[in-house]
Amino acid sequence: PTALLGRHFLKELDFTEEEFRGLVELAAELKAAKKAGTETQYLRGRNIALVFEKTSTRTRCAFEVAAADQGAHTTYLDPSGSQIGHKESVRDTARVLGRMFDGIEYRGDSQAKVEELAAYAGVPVYNGLTDDWHPTQMLADVLTMTEHSDKPLGELALAYLGDARFNMGNSYLVTGALLGMDVRIVAPKAYWPAEDVVTHARKLAAASGARITLTEDVPEGVSGADFVATDVWVSMGEPKEVWAERIAALSPYAVTMDVLRATGNPDVKFLHCLPAFHDLGTQVGREIHETYGRDSLEVTDEVFESAHSVVFDEAENRLHTIKAVLVATLAR
Ligand code: CP
Ligand code: NVA
Repeated sequence: PTALLGRHFLKELDFTEEEFRGLVELAAELKAAKKAGTETQYLRGRNIALVFEKTSTRTRCAFEVAAADQGAHTTYLDPSGSQIGHKESVRDTARVLGRMFDGIEYRGDSQAKVEELAAYAGVPVYNGLTDDWHPTQMLADVLTMTEHSDKPLGELALAYLGDARFNMGNSYLVTGALLGMDVRIVAPKAYWPAEDVVTHARKLAAASGARITLTEDVPEGVSGADFVATDVWVSMGEPKEVWAERIAALSPYAVTMDVLRATGNPDVKFLHCLPAFHDLGTQVGREIHETYGRDSLEVTDEVFESAHSVVFDEAENRLHTIKAVLVATLAR
């Protein structure tokens, strides 16, 4: 059993730097073992509930494949398929699922809900994304950064461009701060993370030696960056009406080849948790194109398809890192 046996995985702030790094290292070991065909099953006969109040491709599939690889079984409750929050309280659902399952993944809007689930379930609860945090995504991003740079984590510069008030911006800021990185939030001031998130990050930075920059200036923000990251400008659960204001405010922060050049680093890598709006290959993409005349939003197709882009390694790493969380919290 690991030191994290029985622990929840709700937000990055609940972990020490050592614990977070330990999960990334375990993920790297599990990834190598799977590739070598030597994976050991630590979770045979365990049962994991996957509760999704919002849609998902990567997170759901990562939990399902990780559990199957490890010999565990999953039950998927889709956004309309459970009583949670509608007909049955989070507290009651937690106590029911906790009697049947060894662990519970939850994706929804409010962080308070996943925290309440954790308080009453009696088994480990995993945050598969809330409006505030996306902690399993951070493990995958950090694993990807270690794979694509020779520098130690504490020497990496990471610039996040775009809407930084939501899960991805918040998570990058505190994760970078926890791990001692040079982390930059590059966005209009109105799109910076909330004051309490920045305060938490500054506290972590004081302990880890991280550097924190919040700036509206793109060239300043990306200068010397090893990694440039972004996310969609309109997140799940937000209404269509916000598209116009987002496009107006965030267009200067789209990741283009010029932005990558402004880093001054020819080896700079591009990260995106996905899904991304980089071409017209989706229904939403076509709608945006018709209404606003845009072929892409937060990242151009040229950057997305370039050799700088490591987004599919990042997506694959969701599997290995989520597996690490399951093994670390459930293997006896
Ligand atoms: N990046 C991510 O969480 O993707 P899904 O919404 O597909 O799970
Ligand atoms: N910010 C995005 C992330 C999706 C993985 C959202 O919440 O929709």
